[in-house]
Amino acid sequence: MRILITGGAGFIGSNFVRHIADIHPDWEITVLDKLTYAGRLENLEGVRDGKGFQFVHGDIADPAAVSKAMAGCRYVVNFAAETHVDRSLYDAGSFIQTDVYGAFVLLEEARRTKDLELFVQISTDEVYGSVESGSSTETDPLMPRNPYSASKAGGDRLAYSYFATYKLPVIVTRASNNYGPYQFPEKVIPLFITHAIEDRPVPLYGDGLNVRDWLHVDDHCRAVSHLLDKGVPGETYNIGGGNEVKNIDLTKRILALVGKPESLIQPVADRPGHDRRYSLDCAKLRGLGWKPVESFDEGLRHTVDWYRSHDGWWRPLKEANPAFREHYERHYKKA
Ligand code: NAD
Ligand code: DAU
Repeated sequence: MRILITGGAGFIGSNFVRHIADIHPDWEITVLDKLTYAGRLENLEGVRDGKGFQFVHGDIADPAAVSKAMAGCRYVVNFAAETHVDRSLYDAGSFIQTDVYGAFVLLEEARRTKDLELFVQISTDEVYGSVESGSSTETDPLMPRNPYSASKAGGDRLAYSYFATYKLPVIVTRASNNYGPYQFPEKVIPLFITHAIEDRPVPLYGDGLNVRDWLHVDDHCRAVSHLLDKGVPGETYNIGGGNEVKNIDLTKRILALVGKPESLIQPVADRPGHDRRYSLDCAKLRGLGWKPVESFDEGLRHTVDWYRSHDGWWRPLKEANPAFREHYERHYKKA
């Protein structure tokens, strides 16, 4: 039994690799990852030396790398993507290339792969666009409003089209904002935790009233593995944490947990096209027997503790890594 996990050196992918190694010690795992600025082999420490583990350094948009990585796989879970909304404002092309064209190359190879049982396309709640009231269900129209979410919507619907057209067994998942260990420190929770630890101001966009629904990465991993078992091909599943929080409240909670004053909050210019709120109706997945088990209070406290005790992981990413510094200087220079 071999599973291909693309993007397995990134935040959610590496947590998912550990989760699968934990619950299915008899499965063999292949990770295909390009190791962009967001992918790190060290995220896989402890599982890389496992029996049957294979790492393929390559691009999901490269048919040769994909063919090598997918050979003999029963399951494919596609986490590989360009993922940071703010970067997509400057460099939409790389998002289209990976999140749409890369998904296409994977789907084409999946059609050729004998005995493939399931292809899971990891999409996002951002494809619904800003949700002013109520919660999105899987049949709601898609209204992505930034180049990242538009690219993800392309990959999402392309994957479905391979089910409808070629009967490829495809499931699409749309998760809300994840948090937890190994998240690259450009996303709001790790950025604010690590900035607060360093006594740096935390740049809060706009009026701080935008709402995100926080999902612990372990709950996300449990949902995806649950779907490998119980999901119905051709279906789409929302995966939400049930923790809708305004950014300003999130920021105050982080500062309190790190033990730093609210005077560190620095209001900065809003993100262009900033979606006001995301909210998911997860009744469909709950109907299959999954529910999130991590409380946000506990999960956030553990996440702060993890960043406190892993500064050897994140400091080099913020200090030495030109990818972080260059994006930070370009994006926040007007702050
Ligand atoms: P991440 O940026 O931490 O990791 C992405 C990984 O993909 C990295 O290891 C990177 O090296 C790899 N990658 C990028 N381009 C590649 C390519 N062309 N070929 C092969 N590998 C490539 O991202 P994440 O936050 O872990 O997100 C994983 C997936 O989950 C993405 O598809 C994202 O859209 C989706 N998602 C994320 C969240 C979230 O809150 N983080 C929520 C919902 C959905
Ligand atoms: O909703 C799922 C999505 O969540 C995923 O599909 C994306 O891959 C992931 O990056 C995430 O997107 P967001 O844009 O919601 O995450 P981010 O951490 O960038 O921002 C969260 C909120 O915090 C958002 O309202 C913008 C705000 N923010 C973010 C940053 C980086 C700030 O106020 N200041 C900041 O410096």
